[in-house]
Amino acid sequence: MRILLATVAVAAFAFGVAQAQDAGTEPARTGPTAPEQAEGKAVFAKWCAPCHAPDPGLAGTFALQHKYEGKVPAALEDRTDMQPALIGYFVRNGVAWMPPFRPTEISGEQLAALSAYLTAPLDQRGAPAELLAEEMVQLRGERQ
Ligand code: HEC
Repeated sequence: MRILLATVAVAAFAFGVAQAQDAGTEPARTGPTAPEQAEGKAVFAKWCAPCHAPDPGLAGTFALQHKYEGKVPAALEDRTDMQPALIGYFVRNGVAWMPPFRPTEISGEQLAALSAYLTAPLDQRGAPAELLAEEMVQLRGERQ
């Protein structure tokens, strides 16, 4: 994971797009998360945010910004067009740099909660999941 993050951050910097492209034009959501979405959000924070948090230098956010060219938000937590089946497919199979996640990592119950979170109305999701402190330190370090 560390190597992947580092590689993508360097790649983004090399192409000069990390700063030039805004991952989202919408203001970041604030506010609390609905209690029924808390578990899914915790799964997202642990397994997905390191690549999909709203930072244009992260692998998933970077790739999806370029895939959709801004037609849908690059950050998964801001998407309102995904269905649970699609989320489940990508989580279990992976794609490109995204690894598949086994049921020993994300159980069926956790996947259901995660899918519910990513398909919930935006006002139930609250502020985007926070990156872990060490991931934030790492991102800052790579940009100096
Ligand atoms: C190691 C980085 C990484 C992690 C961790 C990761 N992803 Fe991804 N994900 C990616 C990349 C890169 C893509 C885009 C691949 C491409 O170019 O199509 C992607 C694509 C996706 C897509 C496809 C979206 C679309 O419209 O094409 C979904 C859904 C997705 N990820 C969900 C998740 C979820 C849910 C998690 C957590 C369980 C997760 N990802 C964890 C890197 C990651």
